[in-house]
Amino acid sequence: MAGKPKASKQQIADLGEWRVPLPKVGRSSAAVFAEMFQRKSGDADWINGRVFSLVYPTGRSDIDGVLLESNLAYLFENALNPLRFPSLGMMQFEVVSMVSSLLNAPTGSGAGFSAGGTESILLSVLVSRERAKAEKGIERGNIVFPLSAHPAFAKAAFYTGLEARATPLAGDFTADAGALRDAVDENTVLIVGSAYGFPHGVIDPIEELSDFALSRAIPFHCDACIGGFVLPFMERLGYDVPAFDFRLPGVTQMSCDIHKYGYATKGASVVVYRESQWMNHQMFAYDRWPAGFYWTGSVAGARAASPVAAAWAVMNYLGEEGYVEIMRGLMATTARLRNGIAELPGLAILGSPAGPLLAFTSQRDDINAIGDVMDDRGWHLGRVNNPSGLHMMISPLHATNADEFLADLADAVADHGESRGGDAHYN
Ligand SMILES: Cc1ncc(COP(=O)(O)O)c(C=O)c1O
Repeated sequence: MAGKPKASKQQIADLGEWRVPLPKVGRSSAAVFAEMFQRKSGDADWINGRVFSLVYPTGRSDIDGVLLESNLAYLFENALNPLRFPSLGMMQFEVVSMVSSLLNAPTGSGAGFSAGGTESILLSVLVSRERAKAEKGIERGNIVFPLSAHPAFAKAAFYTGLEARATPLAGDFTADAGALRDAVDENTVLIVGSAYGFPHGVIDPIEELSDFALSRAIPFHCDACIGGFVLPFMERLGYDVPAFDFRLPGVTQMSCDIHKYGYATKGASVVVYRESQWMNHQMFAYDRWPAGFYWTGSVAGARAASPVAAAWAVMNYLGEEGYVEIMRGLMATTARLRNGIAELPGLAILGSPAGPLLAFTSQRDDINAIGDVMDDRGWHLGRVNNPSGLHMMISPLHATNADEFLADLADAVADHGESRGGDAHYN
């Protein structure tokens, strides 16, 4: 069809002349699903562990069963109004409470459920802007974050009209605390660090940043979107994990995604605040509507209920012991991959990743050329830049094909052509 737009990452599309009419007559469900699955067959093969971000497969049919059943049980409900669906409201309370406990949030803390890390971060930034306005009279605020912080912080600044100040990294890819301090001024409404960050999986100097934020009485968001369901269980296994959560007095708010290493299906994240009263700033209430008083505590209006149910179900199904056991295996797979990569000629891990996420470069070859060979062999690695590298978020399922991956990587290191010029991309 002429002018058909190419698939893109955007949720918006310039359709031009291209139109798909609603079919006049519906098709059979068999025909609909035949077409859907035919299209799906061209997607990345995550189910066989070929993908290293976006999905977090455990490879366990019992866990997948819990997720399927809980999603189905709440497929049609609407989380906009938990008063109509008290079971949903209660599960939501319990989920945010369990996450708060995991992060050692003190008595008096508050937490909210959101659809993902980006929304949790957006809410946290909004709350910080509003607190700064109410408590300090700051009208044109800024937020300060290291370059490695997730783009959700820049996006939140864009949405809230704050200035985004991104600061350089230290040589080990952690936040350069000095640069961050220098960027802070009297209009800074929020300081950010990650435990750990997406690009290299390294933990920022959270304690140092916490102390600094406290000394300046500025809120400090520790982003544990990935680490929140990793670091606590590594700690239980005896790994040396630096303090990163509410045990540090300067940490005022945190984000933690259940839909990453909490293994819930997508749409489940939690934002936690040291003081519950701050959450009033993320509430939107409107009483002039003919349909009555309207209020929400997050961005969406109507909201999927199944992510709440799935998060509650998987957390209760696994429990602390279940997560710890998964983490034990996951760290063993991570060590296998890490060592295997480091043994290949020229390859080097970037920085000191804390958990099952790493990026590696080559000191000998063009790493993007190696990445191209891996792409051609059906592996979906992410890419990082400055320096160029390949990126992997390791999931429990990768225990099944780590050796195949390393063998293909060895081949790619030994035999690759010129790079096709691939830039860093997020996949
Ligand atoms: C450290 C970190 N923070 C925030 C996010 C944003 O989370 P989401 O994609 O669920 O919105 C991500 C996503 O990968 C992340 O890695």
